Parts: sequence; C-alpha cells; structure tokens
Amino acid sequence: MQQTRIGETILFVGDNGSFLSKLQAEFPKAVVMASARKLSELAASSNQLSDRHSIIMFETDASDSDIEALTRLGAGREGPPVFVALIDEDVPIGRARKLFEAGAEVLPNGSGQDGLTRSLSRFVSGGARAQQAPAAPPDGAVYSIVSTRGGSGATTVAVNLAVALAEGMPKDKGAPTQPNRVLLLDFDIQFGNAGTYVDVEDNGGFTDLLAAEVAPSPDRVLGAVQDTGLGFDILTAPAIFVPLTAMTGELAERILDTARRNHAHVVVDLPRAALDWVEPVVGVTDRLLLVSDGSVPCIRQAKRLLDLYHEMHPALAIELVMNRERKPMFKSAQVDEARQLLQIEIGDWLAQDVAGERRAIDLGRPSACRQSRNRKNFRRLAQRLLAARRTAGINLVK
Ligand SMILES: Nc1ncnc2c1ncn2[C@@H]1O[C@H](COP(=O)(O)OP(=O)(O)OP(=O)(O)O)[C@@H](O)[C@H]1O
Ligand SMILES: [Mg+2]
Repeated sequence: MQQTRIGETILFVGDNGSFLSKLQAEFPKAVVMASARKLSELAASSNQLSDRHSIIMFETDASDSDIEALTRLGAGREGPPVFVALIDEDVPIGRARKLFEAGAEVLPNGSGQDGLTRSLSRFVSGGARAQQAPAAPPDGAVYSIVSTRGGSGATTVAVNLAVALAEGMPKDKGAPTQPNRVLLLDFDIQFGNAGTYVDVEDNGGFTDLLAAEVAPSPDRVLGAVQDTGLGFDILTAPAIFVPLTAMTGELAERILDTARRNHAHVVVDLPRAALDWVEPVVGVTDRLLLVSDGSVPCIRQAKRLLDLYHEMHPALAIELVMNRERKPMFKSAQVDEARQLLQIEIGDWLAQDVAGERRAIDLGRPSACRQSRNRKNFRRLAQRLLAARRTAGINLVK
C-alpha cells in the first residue's frame, strides 16, 4: 500500500477532475488538489513548495507564463519537488521542449492515462528524480605504506595498522548491511607477503584481476578479497611470480575505487618502485607512511622517495614511521638531522622486538593482536589516523 509522509505528496494543479480522481484512487492519501488552476497562479501565491510536496503535477498549454513560473519555482534544481507538466497532444513540440528546458518532466495529458499513472508510480517510488538519492557514504580513507629500503618493516606496519584500525573502529550495530571494515591491499604484487603475516593463503584472486583483459567489475574485485578473521579483510599478492608491470594504472584505480566505496579504511602495502601505476594510488592516498630506520642511508633514501611522491601529488600528507628505534628521551642530533633533511614529522616510533615479531610471523597473528612491545604504538598510530579522519568531519561508520 502507498504510504505517505510529509513532503511526499503530489500537488495537482489543473482542472481535469476525472484524471484527478484516477490519481487519487491510484495513490490514496498522496494526491492534493491545489487551489490554483495554473502553475503561474501557484507561483504567484505559494512558496516553500519543496518542503511540502515531492511532485508538482500541472496541466499546461506550455504558455510563456507557465514556463516563467517553472523558473521562478526553481524547477530542475537538485532535490524535490519534481515538476511534471501534462500537455495535450496538440502542443507543438518546440513548446514542449521549452518546458523540459525549464526543468519539467513532460508527459502527455488526456487519453493515455494508464501510461501516465505508470510514469507517476515511477516518480513516487523514487525511480526518477522524485526523491533525492540517499547521500553516498564517504569514501574510505587510504593509507599507503612504503619501506625506505627492503626489510624496513612496511608490511609489519601495514598489517598491524590494519589490526589496530579494525579494533579502533566504532561498532556499527544499527546497519549490518553497511560495511564498516578495514581492507589491506597487498600491492607489492611481486614479492608481497602480507598474507603470511595473517595466515591467509593466496586464493589466486589478484592473479585473475591482473590477467583479465578488461577492467574488472566491483563484484569481481570484492570476490578476490578474503576475511583474515582478525576483524579486517585482505587482498593478497599473487603467490606466483608476476612482473611489477603486470599492474596497470586503470586496474589500480579500479581496485582502489571499489575498496574505498566498500571499506571505511584501506591500507595499501605499496612497493618502493617508481612505476606508472603507483601514481594513481598516490593520487587517492590520504596519508603516506614511510617506514624507515634511523640510519643515514635509510633517511637519505626516505628523502628521495619523499621528493618523488611530492612530485606526483604535491599536497600529499607524508609522515615517517621510525622502526626499530627507541624514541629518544632527550633532543637527539640524529633525529634533528633527519627532520631537517626531510622536513616532515616523525609520526611514530616502533621498538625493536625481534622475538615478538618473529613469533607474530610464526603464529600468523600480528603483534598488535596480543601483548607485545609494539602493541600500544600501533594502537596510538591507528588512533591518530582515526582522529585525523574525524577532525576532517568524516563519519567513520560507512
Ligand atoms: N620492530 C621490529 N622489530 C623486530 N623485527 C622487525 C620489526 N619490524 C619488522 N621486523 C621484521 O623484519 C622483517 C622485515 O619486515 P617487513 O616484511 O615488514 O619489511 P618490508 O619493509 O615489508 O620488507 P620488504 O621490502 O621485503 O617488503 C620481518 O621479519 C619482520 O618481522
Ligand atoms: Mg613488505
């Protein structure tokens, strides 16, 4: 049965009584008869129609005064009401077009009333512009993680960040169909091993995406994603050898686009190589984390990478995660030097924890999942990123 809420009524402007009764039979409670008989009269006497009606249906001969009234009433703007002009068959097509250009939907009046009520049903059920589309949820945040040199700890940071973000997410009990999840994308397609850190075997999904000749559909991308059982999802890198150039910018964009629409946070384990397809990833990255140790070669390498990413995306927020380094209690010349060279903040410090990180890999459970030296550091990093997102005014519950 048709249900009517305030602002969802159809206002009928005209004097075709039999058509009005038909409409009222079809949409009980939804159709209201205006006291004005012409749109131009309505425009002169009413305001705030948009607050009261979702559709203004008016009979018209496409006169200049009705066309002017459409403009005055703001027809064609985003949101309700939708203006539906009912014209007789003898109205010249040029005049009908003017109604359309002024923002009205144009339907034939008179004989074909079954067709008309069918079209109207479409408006009422939201098939056309009658109801505003629900606001799209905000796109998920993207954090790209890069190591300044092999083995610096990028994958360790990526998986632990995913764990800590998932733990820190607000629980969305009200809307179980709306994803409120974190996704880890292992874009280190050649040697990526994030799956082994969370005990997830490659399902061949990414290999299929790379092999596909056309850009995959969102369903296909999501079909390649697996649940880690640790509160977040993962797209594992191919277990077989693939060249780094097997990925294209188009595919990277497609995967990220789908990821951001379906996940609240997307963590990307990104290879260090300067490849064409890295640019679109950097382009949608909200924050890039460079994982480094405090050694001079590593900091120098960090500087080169920083310049490269800033060239790709000048406004990109980049921070340094200092791994295997204890945060100095006092001012340190080494840290000052690194800050001066890089001109960025050192976001976080992760302690050296050989036994803990080794155990994490052996168990397939990242150290942020259990008591470990770095658990609170990973949590602090995730909380800072979540807070930055909230400060940006973005509701984390997607
Ligand atoms: N803070 C730490 N304390 C002790 N071991 C660590 C720490 N961080 C990382 N490791 C260990 O160092 C090794 C390399 O780490 P990881 O795989 O995260 O580096 P990566 O930068 O991703 O390397 P790659 O360049 O190969 O992708 C792993 O065995 C990991 O457990
Ligand atoms: Mg890695």
